[in-house]
Amino acid sequence: MKILDINVINFRNIKEKKFEFADTVTYVYGENGSGKTNLLEAIYYLSCGKSFRNVKDSDIRMRETEYFHVDGTVSSDDTKHKIAMGMKSGEKKIILDGKNIKKVSELFGVFIPVVFSPEDTSVINGSPMIRRRFIDRMIASIDNDYIIYLKKYNYALEQRNKLFREAIDNDENLLYAYEKILTENGIIIAERRRETVDKLNEIITDIYFRITGAKDRIFVNYKSEFTDGDRDDLLLRYRNKRGNDKLLKRTSFGVHTDDIQIVINGENSRYFASTGEKKSLVVALRIAESDIYNKIKNEYPVMLLDDIFSELDEKRRRNLLKFFIDKAQVIITSPERYDIGTGVAYINMEQIDG
Ligand SMILES: Nc1ncnc2c1ncn2[C@@H]1O[C@H](COP(=O)(O)OP(=O)(O)O)[C@@H](O)[C@H]1O
Ligand SMILES: [Mg+2]
Repeated sequence: MKILDINVINFRNIKEKKFEFADTVTYVYGENGSGKTNLLEAIYYLSCGKSFRNVKDSDIRMRETEYFHVDGTVSSDDTKHKIAMGMKSGEKKIILDGKNIKKVSELFGVFIPVVFSPEDTSVINGSPMIRRRFIDRMIASIDNDYIIYLKKYNYALEQRNKLFREAIDNDENLLYAYEKILTENGIIIAERRRETVDKLNEIITDIYFRITGAKDRIFVNYKSEFTDGDRDDLLLRYRNKRGNDKLLKRTSFGVHTDDIQIVINGENSRYFASTGEKKSLVVALRIAESDIYNKIKNEYPVMLLDDIFSELDEKRRRNLLKFFIDKAQVIITSPERYDIGTGVAYINMEQIDG
């Protein structure tokens, strides 16, 4: 997977600029606020029409402008694609190889970047929802059907919650219908999550060792109430929870309460790991994500490493780069220009129009 170039217009502080990327490593530097993360955001935006920062399109459009636009050339297995995306008067346009497409989901798999960002320790420090999203995105990138199960599950969840919220929960048949959807899709979701966590566990300790040189034991612990029951048993549990859920006005049982713990030497990293360990853990998780994608798709995603160099010491920096050089295309940002080897393209963000 590669990105060859991107044309960015009115995207945050980038007024209009075309960027070209090296096959191997592109090193983007410039002082804080110069737009390095914005460039990575624009690249990521091309893959799914969303920011990795969880913001609205109106935040992305350059202040006091009417529209924004990104287009770029990507390649996978030597097949090139042109993706263009933009937003004008609140209307989003997505064009793949010259054809208008209606949903970003049709873009699925065309271009897959993986982002490494310092804000990303939320995977460890944040709420279980963030860890579920991490694992779900990973599964969705290798399994096109997964998103359908999630959608069905979330629909039934919302409907069941609504019955309790609006106190219209006296229709047993309706409750049962939603509980059936929750159970059937929940079983599949839990299965996929467990399989993926198993895959992570096969490689994560080794990856962590290769970044840090530390012989720590890393274990990803999938916590779900959902895996140990059969279908009828799970349906019964929903039924038994009705009284409780009526009081709570929401569904208290199911895969939407799952969590994954990232365990280091037997302790939950969320509470016991140092800041440095947390950062290394997140990097290891992202590398594992890329590795698993590679095992299935036989290529690596594009690695977007946002300002993580300043967070890691020299040794960890080199170890991290060693992972990807000769394997994946890497785009790195940093406030300072470090010389990191030959064949590297440099982009100075301070030279772009602001
Ligand atoms: N919608 C927007 N319109 C114009 N400027 C923006 C917008 N959103 C963010 N910015 C500006 O972008 C700059 C931050 O860019 P960023 O990519 O985060 O910098 P860094 O190089 O430190 O990663 C800030 O100066 C901010 O004001
Ligand atoms: Mg930044």
